[in-house]
Amino acid sequence: MAGETSAIRGMFFDFVDDPWKHVGREQESARFIFDGLMVVEDGLIADFGDYAEVSKRHPGVQATHITNRLILPGFIDGHVHFPQVRVLGAYGNQLLDWLQNWIFPEEEKYSDRNYARDAAGRFFDALLAGGTTTCQAFTTSNPVSTEELFGEAARRNLRLIAGLTGIDRFAPQTTVISPEYFYSESKRLIEHYHRKGRNLYAITPRFAVGCTDEMMEACRRLKEEHPDCWINTHISENPSELRTSRNEFPDCQDYTQVHEKHKLLGPKFTAGHGIWLSDDELQRFSKAGAAIAFCPLSNLFLGSGLFRIGRATDPEHPVRVALGCDVGGGNAFSLIRVLEEAYKIGMCNNTMLDGSVDPRFQNGAEAERNKLNPYRGFYLATLGGARALYLDDLIGNFDKGKEADFVALDWNAGQAAMSWHQSLITGGNAPETMDQASQLLFGIMACGDDRNVDETWIAGRRAYKKAGA
Ligand code: GUN
Ligand code: ZN
Repeated sequence: MAGETSAIRGMFFDFVDDPWKHVGREQESARFIFDGLMVVEDGLIADFGDYAEVSKRHPGVQATHITNRLILPGFIDGHVHFPQVRVLGAYGNQLLDWLQNWIFPEEEKYSDRNYARDAAGRFFDALLAGGTTTCQAFTTSNPVSTEELFGEAARRNLRLIAGLTGIDRFAPQTTVISPEYFYSESKRLIEHYHRKGRNLYAITPRFAVGCTDEMMEACRRLKEEHPDCWINTHISENPSELRTSRNEFPDCQDYTQVHEKHKLLGPKFTAGHGIWLSDDELQRFSKAGAAIAFCPLSNLFLGSGLFRIGRATDPEHPVRVALGCDVGGGNAFSLIRVLEEAYKIGMCNNTMLDGSVDPRFQNGAEAERNKLNPYRGFYLATLGGARALYLDDLIGNFDKGKEADFVALDWNAGQAAMSWHQSLITGGNAPETMDQASQLLFGIMACGDDRNVDETWIAGRRAYKKAGA
């Protein structure tokens, strides 16, 4: 509402820089305020800092006091599938068979507006319960699902990037659409939804394997005509997919070149997974300013492989990285669960890299970068995700002028023995230092889940409160 002012008092933790730029001194990338105040005007952060200072500048402001919680910027999910809300945790297949057996039949149901509308409510409920306040989402190749998703996001005032999915081969007749239809419907949807409220539009070729050169060319035209739009796709997720892409695009030396050929690789381009990208491809991503959405839950659930996070964060060629739950390839909406699996992937990567299997493969610096300490983890879930998606002028931390989306984490919630586990760090008290707070955050990412998300706030208003809390 115009002219509305509110304030939140509590313990804040956010990021001002990339912790991979501060190896061994990660605290320099973070900000911890033991007793802070955030003043919100019309959904934006109008003032932020120590309570003692900020409250003086806003005499009489009514503050909601959130106690015994760590308040972080809302989590940012760079890769999730709206029409897969119901089909997560599907048994027995890897990517290409899984798409045919489980995913395309379910996505077809989203041509029914009522089904799509009901699912959109469940989709955002699930994200908010996990502390996710922004997502970049796939829809289906039927515009109804895109319309319903944008509609629900607008009703909830959530920031969303989404767009009609382009796919014109290797899928059932009911799923494929022609490049001409994709082009004209995308244009209509861009006009209707892009930059309306908090909605943003992504031109969305599902993956090059499912797109002919004509479909990729339609995407190029759309980006040329609407340079402000995002591009969202998948790349190099699964070895069979990779082989198919080589066969289907014999003129391209690798998967990345398919996107370069059609002038898609660049700022505001995100591709999910990137597990099997070569060093050279990662360097081209870095140079182009393109991003990868790292989706560990999905990569393990579908048996796709281990993303080389330590290589992607090479300081010579850093790639922008967001996290994604990739539901339904991922078997949970929670970015806390995503962080847990991301940590394990980094540790598995290091079985080769730290020289424990074969000393010839020792790469100490990359092995160190593979380790997801809490600074790196929660950076990826917040400011890092915002930078990867080119949204860091709007969200990602508590700088003045940004949108007041945040999550209040309960470090003691979750498994039965969680509070005893966490009391190792602070003796059962609230954290007083950034180091203590970061250790509690690691406890959350290693042992936690949705149960640690006590409240989720959108543009300065509470949108979720954990039941019974
Ligand atoms: N590649 C193309 N479509 C999909 C999808 O729906 N999920 C995942 N994980 N990978 C894909
Ligand atoms: Zn995906």
